[in-house]
Amino acid sequence: MINNTTTNSTNTNHDKNPLDKLFQLQTKYMKGGSDASIQKQHDKGKLTARERLLLLFDENTFVELDMFVRTRSTNFDIHKNLPHSESVVTGYGLIHGRLVYAYSQDFTIVGGSLGEMHAKKITKVMDNAHKMGAPLVGINDSGGARIQEGIDALNGYGEIFYRNTKSSGVIPQITAIMGPCAGGAVYSPALTDFIFMVENSSQMFITGPQVIKSVTGEDVSAETLGGASTHSGRSGVAHFSAPNDETCIAQIKQLISYLPSNYGETPPTFQPNDDANRSVDLLNTVIPQDANTPYNVLDIINTVMDNGSFLEIQAQFAQNIIIGFARLNGSTIGIVANQPQILAGCLDIDASDKAARFVRFCDAFNIPILTIVDVPGFLPGTNQEFNGIIRHGAKLLYAYSEATTPKVQLVTRKAYGGSYLAMSPKSLGGDICLAWPTAEIAVMGASGAANIIFRKEIAKATDKEATKTNLINNYESEFNTPYKAAERGLIDDVIEPATTRIRLIDAFNMLHTKNEVAIDKKHGNIPL
Ligand code: HXC
Repeated sequence: MINNTTTNSTNTNHDKNPLDKLFQLQTKYMKGGSDASIQKQHDKGKLTARERLLLLFDENTFVELDMFVRTRSTNFDIHKNLPHSESVVTGYGLIHGRLVYAYSQDFTIVGGSLGEMHAKKITKVMDNAHKMGAPLVGINDSGGARIQEGIDALNGYGEIFYRNTKSSGVIPQITAIMGPCAGGAVYSPALTDFIFMVENSSQMFITGPQVIKSVTGEDVSAETLGGASTHSGRSGVAHFSAPNDETCIAQIKQLISYLPSNYGETPPTFQPNDDANRSVDLLNTVIPQDANTPYNVLDIINTVMDNGSFLEIQAQFAQNIIIGFARLNGSTIGIVANQPQILAGCLDIDASDKAARFVRFCDAFNIPILTIVDVPGFLPGTNQEFNGIIRHGAKLLYAYSEATTPKVQLVTRKAYGGSYLAMSPKSLGGDICLAWPTAEIAVMGASGAANIIFRKEIAKATDKEATKTNLINNYESEFNTPYKAAERGLIDDVIEPATTRIRLIDAFNMLHTKNEVAIDKKHGNIPL
């Protein structure tokens, strides 16, 4: 046992207890920056780097690494003015009892700026997380490259980006933006799987308001340019936003509870908190009589999944498609669902990007995917065409086609044309495809189809409107049903909506042992 007092009076050279220096350094380094800078951090409503890590990890499990690492730079006498250790805290610990690595930039020390040794601390935990197969959480709060360290700082960013990319698809990588994150520094978060932002205290942008003003003449505040609401709602860069640091950290822990630790594992399972044999009677009437009346697909998701388990991702961005994780009989699944309430559930550029990236994440980490389909088509318009809906829509087709994880499709209403093919059909390797009796699986809507194939007949008729209505109705009852697709085996079964939960649990149970091995190639070439 280590004793705190020294009794050996002959040990003149070491008459000071060696522990004194250790405790003195630990006390000094663990404090972070100056009292004034810590106060400034708190006054902004922000926690310090260590306070954040203590909240993130299970109690008493965080182990700090490299507390004694300091800058090696002597440029501009920075070493003399820096009595602290490096401006980032790194280490590992447990979250929900599982190993996770983390780094947390300390804004109270030279604004959390990144120099050579700061980067080395980060890359060490990145390497460890990769080798140990454990998720990595990065908390960003930094003024960017430490200007005094110049090219060494730039090289440090490069080393981080390289590892972000090498670990992509190996371990889940999660970034929280809890302060400034500007310039090239944004690209480490952008290379990770999920970005969390805190409202009014975090910003991400490539070029700041002053540079924009001088180059383009535009006036824009930092918050409007790169705040949490901009990136959650408009750009789609962020996946989650939170009102404060505490909520943000709670959200990160919740997300981790759905994820496996690495690509070689399956997601953690929980004791189900819901009845596997529960029928959901209200689903028999959830689809409106009029095919053009919207409904909220979240009503279906929330009633079918285990009680309260749905975690929506990018809830404010491309709201015409819903993505998120849920538990079904205690197991994680990923959900992709058209939202008929927004743009009638059409697929557009942003929805395609959002869903494709999510499908690829699920596939990389063995998370089964449920796709709920009510899609009338790709969104028409020059804006969509000029901005490359062809290229973006192709991402979704590609992502579903390459995914080998279990894929279950549920068609609730419209499934028209190419947009149906982009939503995990049998032809793209869908394992189980179910449809409700209200499903309309067809090459296009009845009205459009009748107008084309019966054009001459309608033109010749004396009562054009009546003839047209009649022909549309005939087409609808014959072709806009699930039964043509079921006749071809493109739908495995047409089910009573009330039994959806039971049937989905059964389907994913059956698919549990699915083992489809992708062919050995370097990598595909997804249309980016
Ligand atoms: C060195 C920095 C720094 C940096 C902040 N500090 N950023 N030191 N390099 N990049 C220091 C400040 O000098 C200050 O030191 C302390 O950190 C706190 O900063 P404040 O300015 O007092 O804080 P605040 O008012 O909250 O403003 C935060 C800020 C501002 C908006 C981030 O500090 C700022 O604009 N910093 C510079 C940002 C920047 O231009 N970065 C780009 C670097 S180039 P004292 O001693 O006064 O307490 C880059 C390229 C990366 O990042 C490319 C990667 C591929």
